[in-house]
Amino acid sequence: MTKGGRKPLIAGNWKMHNNHFEALALTQQLAFRLTAKDYDAVDVVVLPPFTSLRSVQTLVQGDKLRLRYGAQDISPHADGAYTGDVSGRMLAKLGCGFVLAGHSERRHYHGEDDALVGAKVRAIVANEMAPVLCVGEPLSVRRGDEYLEYCLRQLDAGTDGLSAGQASGMIVAYEPIWAIGTGEVAAPEDAQEVCAAIRQRVSGRHGPEVGAAVRILYGGSVKPDNMPGIMAQPDIDGALVGGASLDYEGFVRICRYRETYA
Ligand code: PGA
Repeated sequence: MTKGGRKPLIAGNWKMHNNHFEALALTQQLAFRLTAKDYDAVDVVVLPPFTSLRSVQTLVQGDKLRLRYGAQDISPHADGAYTGDVSGRMLAKLGCGFVLAGHSERRHYHGEDDALVGAKVRAIVANEMAPVLCVGEPLSVRRGDEYLEYCLRQLDAGTDGLSAGQASGMIVAYEPIWAIGTGEVAAPEDAQEVCAAIRQRVSGRHGPEVGAAVRILYGGSVKPDNMPGIMAQPDIDGALVGGASLDYEGFVRICRYRETYA
């Protein structure tokens, strides 16, 4: 059961949690619980910190797991004197399929602006990985009536310069900042409104086929019990899960959202 042929995608953003031993344990627990039926129904992705990527790669490849993985950040530069940064070529070599760009915590704590986020998205696609471009408004903007424009401006800047082919492989995550880590999930209809506007904008800029193909996730306090309502919305193709992805039982329940309330 897919919406418009789009396979749901559920990504766990582990943020700055878990050393590489703990990451291995969590990956093993997920691998033990997730079945072929789960992977047939949804793409399951984990996004560990850089220091755990090699360990996760070894486990996924060694055990031929269908679990996918990726990184939380990338340098916009190909290589060079950029102390502390990690390039797209390094991440691709580690087998990363996905990389986050524009997460609100990067925008807030590291001052990443739209231009830098766009450059990171281009670095991701240049290395044949799928960007997970995060957009979302703060509470002050949500209280006004400009929140759609706010998110669409972030979307436009983040997708600047992408070809239609590159854009159709990207993933957009709508993450209202006021819902991240707060326990205050957006109402499914409110999330749907923004996700529909995102799809419409992608169609307008890159063509209707790209708009129909692009996967749009919701993120912000996703939990097993609110996931079915979110996934009932026609333009929401999955979730970017923070806190709840650190507990494998809960994360597996999120991946099985269909069964919970079937
Ligand atoms: P949360 O985080 O699920 O803990 O709200 C979501 C995110 O930041 O991606």
